Amino acid sequence: MMKERIEQLRSEIRKHNHSYHVLDKPTISDQEYDRLMQELLSLENEYPEYKDALSPTQQVGGQVLDKFQKVKHDVMMLSLGNVYNQAELDEFIDRVERETGLNEFVLELKIDGLAMSLRYQNGRFDKAITRGDGDTGEDVSLNVKTIKSIPLTVSELSAFEVRGEVYLPKLQFERINLEREAKGEELFANPRNAAAGSIRQLDSNVAASRNLDAYLYYLIQGQRFGCKSHLEALDWMRTQGFKVNPHTRLAKGKEAVWQAILELGELRRTLGYEIDGIVIKLNRFSGQDQMGFTAKTPRWAVAYKFPAEEVLTTLKNIFITIGRTGKVTPNAELAPVRIAGTTVGFAQLHNEDFIQSKDIRIGDIVKVRKAGEIIPEVVESLIERRDGTQVPYVFPSECPHCHGPLVRDEKEAAHYCINTDCEARIVESLAHFASRDAMNIDGLGVKTVETLVQAKMIKTIADIYTLKEKRNELLALQGFKEKSVDGLIQAIETSKSNSMERLITGLGIRQVGEKAARSLASSYANIDALSQSSEEELSSIRDIGKITASFITGYFNEEHNQHLIQRLKDAGVQMESRLPQIESSAFSDLTVVVTGSIPNHTREQVEEWFRIKGAKVSSSVSKKTDLVVYGDAAGSKLKKAQELGLRTMTAEEWLKELET
Ligand code: IVH
Repeated sequence: MMKERIEQLRSEIRKHNHSYHVLDKPTISDQEYDRLMQELLSLENEYPEYKDALSPTQQVGGQVLDKFQKVKHDVMMLSLGNVYNQAELDEFIDRVERETGLNEFVLELKIDGLAMSLRYQNGRFDKAITRGDGDTGEDVSLNVKTIKSIPLTVSELSAFEVRGEVYLPKLQFERINLEREAKGEELFANPRNAAAGSIRQLDSNVAASRNLDAYLYYLIQGQRFGCKSHLEALDWMRTQGFKVNPHTRLAKGKEAVWQAILELGELRRTLGYEIDGIVIKLNRFSGQDQMGFTAKTPRWAVAYKFPAEEVLTTLKNIFITIGRTGKVTPNAELAPVRIAGTTVGFAQLHNEDFIQSKDIRIGDIVKVRKAGEIIPEVVESLIERRDGTQVPYVFPSECPHCHGPLVRDEKEAAHYCINTDCEARIVESLAHFASRDAMNIDGLGVKTVETLVQAKMIKTIADIYTLKEKRNELLALQGFKEKSVDGLIQAIETSKSNSMERLITGLGIRQVGEKAARSLASSYANIDALSQSSEEELSSIRDIGKITASFITGYFNEEHNQHLIQRLKDAGVQMESRLPQIESSAFSDLTVVVTGSIPNHTREQVEEWFRIKGAKVSSSVSKKTDLVVYGDAAGSKLKKAQELGLRTMTAEEWLKELET
């Protein structure tokens, strides 16, 4: 009886929430709404047995966590490739037409917030996960639950996942910053940072108070719900109660797409939220499947980014910073200006030649530009605005940190501090080791590393693993509270079991980034094997050129690096690869495309098999393709392979290969 009334109230309130927050069409007065909520609250208190974490009464925050759980994405969470002008956009459209014969695109606003994945099960909200590194994100469900436009119940009962952007409306951003200013707190630089900061709050009450919102723009495996195109998937999401942006256009062909971009761009000033471009997606799923994905982005969609905003300000000073390789970067200190939604006080000056050739002087009025997430840069000086007080910059010959000499590398036109003991270099390389793409040690950012290095508690990456024995010393440092110290120690311990490619990235060998590290971890079973390999052997590996190979052997030949690796090993840092090891085979170095359905195997499994056999897997057929493996219902890719006279292999033939 009471249970029914409770359910009835919940469903009524949900309908009003949807009308108000999703459709923007209130169907009830505030007083009436409050009355329904009050009744529900008191009934839930009276009958705690009917409590439900997804009741509308639970959307106001309440719980406080001590950390977020990591969750692996079922489907990699991708980003988008960018185009910056009409010519680049046309190239994309040509490519799509060439590969699929299709030219109908959906255009959407590119909302400037943070990507979020929402999982539903049995008609109920299950989890909200951040992008993280694309592979693993964090469970921020409690915070996302406080976003009133996100439905907590849906009519679809099977499990599904939708993705979209959580953002902070401009008005809320201004309100929050006014409140922070009044309290003497640091201001948020822009709505995106404020949104990200709110989602990372461990206290869901704080997140709730921020009034975040969300637009959804991607349904995973839309075909499962009978959708044949992106537009149909957007409609399906609407019927499930999700907020889908209304400014969506369908356009066919280059001209119409460009026209639609111009029109949507016009809206920018009038919107209540920030956008930083327009997303162009191939509408039909069949074409999307045909084009597939690169490592980090879909090949069937791109983001057109609005031109970078440029502003004028005074260049107050020039100072240099030292990177982990010792590379020197000159930076401009600016009179702070607002640009593209953030306050900018510093900008890049690249190198000595840049400053010289543009004749940039201290005291100049300069034009500054900020393109997307990239660090702002000085474009030029306004020479006509000089008044005689400006001073040319003399590039220093000495490192400001260690006072060692700065040596100019002519090939790179860059200066280097060549002292490997330079504190600035040490801080940067330790912070790199701990960074998200490397060992991913939460709480060990540049600031913390700097403090620890200055306190002489760490000097090498191996010292990081001795910090757990120095808990009391850590607690004695200013600003280090028990909770953060224990969190840090825990994060350091956890990092010991990282996969080998993270460790390789973290070592900071010149030119060995994430991608090269992965290749190395697929080719060597452990660090010992890697450290004993020859330059010749290394340069035969994909993504490793001759120069990189020499940096790798150079690194492992140095005695202090050998000592370092030994210390990491002794500390219990995992040094074995968990990636499937690439074999040399008849398929080594061939470019292979898999198409159609292969009995008892998913396409991903077949592709993985070829990768392990040393092949390069691609999703589109071209002259450069060496082999096309096809199963049932292979379509245009097989046709193209035959037209080009490429080598093909049937599913049966492949299954035989598999057996042998
Ligand atoms: S589609 C496979 N659509 O922009 C789907 N992304 O720079 C990939 N974004 O990671 C994303 N508005 O966080 C898509 N209408 C929109 C978007 C959008 C904003 C964000 C998203 C993405 C980033 C790429």
